[in-house]
Amino acid sequence: MKNPEANSKEPTTCTSDIQSRWRSPSNIALVKYWGKKGPQIPANPSLSITLSACYTETLVNMQEIDSPDPEVEFYLDGQPQPAFAERLRKFCVDLAREKEFLRYKRLVVHSHNTFPHSAGIASSASGMSAFCLCLASLEEKITGDVKGDFFREASQLARRASGSASRSVYGGYVVWGEHPDVPGSSDDFAIPVPWDIHPLFHGLNDWIVVCDRGEKAVSSRAGHSLMEGHPFARERFNQAFRNISVLRLALQSGDWSAFAFLTEHEALTLHAMMLTSRPWFMLMKPQTLLVLEGVRKFREQTGTQICFTLDAGPNVHLLFPDSELHHVNELLMSRDWLNLSPENIIRDKEGTGPIKLS
Ligand code: DP6
Repeated sequence: MKNPEANSKEPTTCTSDIQSRWRSPSNIALVKYWGKKGPQIPANPSLSITLSACYTETLVNMQEIDSPDPEVEFYLDGQPQPAFAERLRKFCVDLAREKEFLRYKRLVVHSHNTFPHSAGIASSASGMSAFCLCLASLEEKITGDVKGDFFREASQLARRASGSASRSVYGGYVVWGEHPDVPGSSDDFAIPVPWDIHPLFHGLNDWIVVCDRGEKAVSSRAGHSLMEGHPFARERFNQAFRNISVLRLALQSGDWSAFAFLTEHEALTLHAMMLTSRPWFMLMKPQTLLVLEGVRKFREQTGTQICFTLDAGPNVHLLFPDSELHHVNELLMSRDWLNLSPENIIRDKEGTGPIKLS
């Protein structure tokens, strides 16, 4: 798929003060990426749903400078963030070795997330994908084209910034990592799933129950590296390969039970890997466990099509089709169910992917 705006812009070699602006959503993995090798190559393929309400908007302004290595300023809601600017700078310096358009440039980056940083929602997928979509647009403006497909290029750049960000450049159901059941899949970039999804899973809801607002004790990056030498790593990676095939069948046939079983099993396996790392660590909180138990009981008692997943953090993602909206609302509002206040629930759902902003 070509960027629809690619042909409407005159290629230019004049790069003083050019800019690009993208909105890019977060995503939630059903089959998890946990463990990597070499230059940000996943140890196993992953499959995610791109969300809609949780997104990052990023504006990158590119200026010419005298020194060859790129410089980066980063502002979140107008406030300078030197630590994150340094992470982006290192990423850009590394990239500039092969991407000529980044040499002799300063990038002034302004970002805004729709979800509060303090909600503990992972922002790297939306943040890094928004930034890399901007880079791909700037590359296109400067060189007249990006090699090959625009979104593939953006996904490849995003993968190098943060693995899960590679999936956020597409809407809907997305696979990153080579798998025989997913034609066209690659370890280098993500692709939209190349098969039809059953209507049951169209516009799937993902309501995020915020269980803890604190900073994570262990970063994803550190967690991934603990999969090296992990006693169960080999079996985990094989399991993820098998789970892509099982999930494909469930998504195609509309098999909710198979979908729910696999999705929850993936989430719990991810956290089991954390608990059995050396050293071990735990990102779930007491409230997380209460919510997981609550979902299971509610499902058993009412037969509602609802299941949960988790990312590398304490918050619970409740997944359910539109037909169950009424029941889930009732569950969350009922007084005996964990007494959750409305600001601790973020109502999101499957979305259509990033948008280029003028
Ligand atoms: C548990 O993409 O945040 O959310 O590549 O080191 O930036 P880096 O890690 P990151 O890891 C995401 C892990 C996960 C599962 C997933 O999104 O597939």
